[in-house]
Amino acid sequence: MSELLSVDCDSTVFHLVWSDGTHATYPYIWLRDNDPGELHPHTRERLFDLTSVSLDISPESWQQASAHLLVKWHDKSSESIYPLDWLLENRPGKHRADPAVVSLNYWSAADLPAIPLFDARLCRESGSTLVEALQEAKRHGLVIFDGLEDDDQAGENLGELIGFKRRTNFGTTFEVVNKPSPNNLAYTALALPLHTDLPNQEQVPGYQFLHCLRNSVTGGASVFADGFRICTDLRAQAPDDFDLLSGLQIPWRFHDENDDVRFRRSIIELDSMGDLSGLAFNAHIADVPDLPSSQLLDFYQAYQGLMQRIREPQYRICHTLGPGEMVMFDNRRVLHGREGFDPGSGERHLRGFYVEHNEVNSRIRTLTIS
Ligand code: OGA
Ligand code: ZN
Repeated sequence: MSELLSVDCDSTVFHLVWSDGTHATYPYIWLRDNDPGELHPHTRERLFDLTSVSLDISPESWQQASAHLLVKWHDKSSESIYPLDWLLENRPGKHRADPAVVSLNYWSAADLPAIPLFDARLCRESGSTLVEALQEAKRHGLVIFDGLEDDDQAGENLGELIGFKRRTNFGTTFEVVNKPSPNNLAYTALALPLHTDLPNQEQVPGYQFLHCLRNSVTGGASVFADGFRICTDLRAQAPDDFDLLSGLQIPWRFHDENDDVRFRRSIIELDSMGDLSGLAFNAHIADVPDLPSSQLLDFYQAYQGLMQRIREPQYRICHTLGPGEMVMFDNRRVLHGREGFDPGSGERHLRGFYVEHNEVNSRIRTLTIS
């Protein structure tokens, strides 16, 4: 651990220098607002009310004790105690360490010869194995859990260890089987081209889980592609299309006799830094594009171009899910689909559910940070 070498102050800040060369500057108002002693002892939420002091607050006195900086503020009777290791760890400008921040691997088929596989029993028994699986699910956008017991609930039971399920108009879990009166093409035996689920929702579901209960049909292999790899290539090779698809919002809609769920969003979503943060791609529930006529040809040119790119074999990996396997994939990044199947040839039954990104991130942290 780095030692504190010096403490200086002026009218608004403390300057601290550590033996590893770290220089850090702490505005007084920041220190007053983040007094570690002014958190609720149980909830650890901040109790300090920022409006109770002036922004130009400064210490009445201060001293350095062996492992603490002690500061007496005018508005508080007791001294505030700032542990030096806390000050180093939380210095302004440094983001809190986060095991849920994982470096991402954008893949083409050649980069991912097999979907990362994790034993469900080991994940249930060992928090560190589960964390590894979740971090891999973030890195590559998908993993498979295998060895689930012969129990229709087994996938959900593992899901419970990860986070609570997102409920949608299709239910908390949904049964992907060939149904007589389907309200979704997934509930037929048709081939499903690569897509992401539910772009029509205000909050697009984060991770999708598909637990294979039975699969004895001819056909029906699952197909996946990394949307972020595809969008990265699109950005490099067809920047105008990329800009159009990230700039134009289009309407998405699911409706049946019970629900009419609509949202406008762009196909490619960027964060405030201009980096990829989501892909929403599902031709089946793209509503009638209501762009001005003058934009429609450009839109279709870019949209069809992306659709063709998404289907290129170089991006596509296939895996036929067997009973006892559950795939988990990032529904805002990885496209999924399936080959058509012959419903007369056997039974195919996947049970699906969604868990939001936040829940997965939270589980990684709680299993990592003691
Ligand atoms: C779905 C879906 C794929 C499959 O349920 O969202 O796309 O393999 N299913 O049946
Ligand atoms: Zn789907």
